Amino acid sequence: MAKKRIAVLTGAGVSAESGFSTFRDSGGLWAQYDPQVVASIDGWYRDRGLLLDFYNGLRHQLRDARPNAAHYAIASLEKDYDVTVITQNVDNLHERAGSTRVVHLHGELDKARPEHGVYDESFSEAEVIDLHYEDIRLGDKAPNGSQLRPHIVWFGEAVPKIERAIDYVLQADILLIVGSSLSVYPAAGLYRYAGPDCSVYVIDPQDVNLRHDKRITHIREVATAGMPKFIEMISSPE
Ligand code: APR
Repeated sequence: MAKKRIAVLTGAGVSAESGFSTFRDSGGLWAQYDPQVVASIDGWYRDRGLLLDFYNGLRHQLRDARPNAAHYAIASLEKDYDVTVITQNVDNLHERAGSTRVVHLHGELDKARPEHGVYDESFSEAEVIDLHYEDIRLGDKAPNGSQLRPHIVWFGEAVPKIERAIDYVLQADILLIVGSSLSVYPAAGLYRYAGPDCSVYVIDPQDVNLRHDKRITHIREVATAGMPKFIEMISSPE
C-alpha cells in the first residue's frame, strides 16, 4: 500500500530548541535587527558588508548548533510516511537530522550564489556554492566574476520554490505546521492548498493566525514536546 504523504511546513520555532532565536517572539531577531536593513535586497545594495557580517555571524552559530529532538522526530516520519519538509528556515538542521526531502523556501545559510544572475525558476542550482560554514567577504567572487552573496531569499525577492511547495501541499494527506507564526507570504498561505481530505495539525505554544475552516488540530506545545503527541495522533487508528 502506498505510504501516506505528509507535508511538514516548518518555521523558526522548530529550531528554537537548538538555540536559534525566532524572529517575532519577544526579544526575537527582528527586535534586535531591522529586517529591511539586514535581510532585504535593498539592504544588500545599500551595504553589502553589513549583510555579509550579519549572515557570517548566523553561519558561525549554525556551525556550532545541533538538530534537536523535533528535527529528528520529523526525519523519523520517513520510516512510515512519504515526507516532504517545506521549511522557511535557512539552517540545515533538518538535513543534519536525516530528512531527505527538504524544500528551502527562503534559501540556505550554508550556501552562496553569484550576486548577478536572477534567482528564479530557471536558476541553475549549479551556481550555488557550498560554504562549509566559511565566511563570505567583500571581494569573494563567483565563477561568473560577480560578488558572492548569501543564498538567502531576502525581503523584496521572489520565492522560486513556492510552486513546488504548493504541489506537495496539494498532494498531502497530512499537513503539519511546526513553529511558524505564518506572518510572511507566500509561505504563510501554503496551508490554504491543503485538500478537503487533508488533516491539518499545528505544533506551536502560541496561537497561529490560521483563519481556516478545515479541521485543524492545534498541539499547543513546543516542537520537541509536540512531535511525540503528533506521531501518536496520526499512528492511532481513525
Ligand atoms: N517550538 C515550537 N514553536 C515555537 C517554539 C518552540 N520551541 N518557540 C517559538 N515557537 C513559535 C512561535 O510561537 C511562533 O509562532 O514559532 C513561531 C516563530 O514565528 P516567527 O518568529 O515569525 O518565525 P517564522 O514564522 O519562521 O518567520 C517566517 O519571516 O523574517 C522572515 O525569512 C524569515 O523565514 C522567516 C519568516
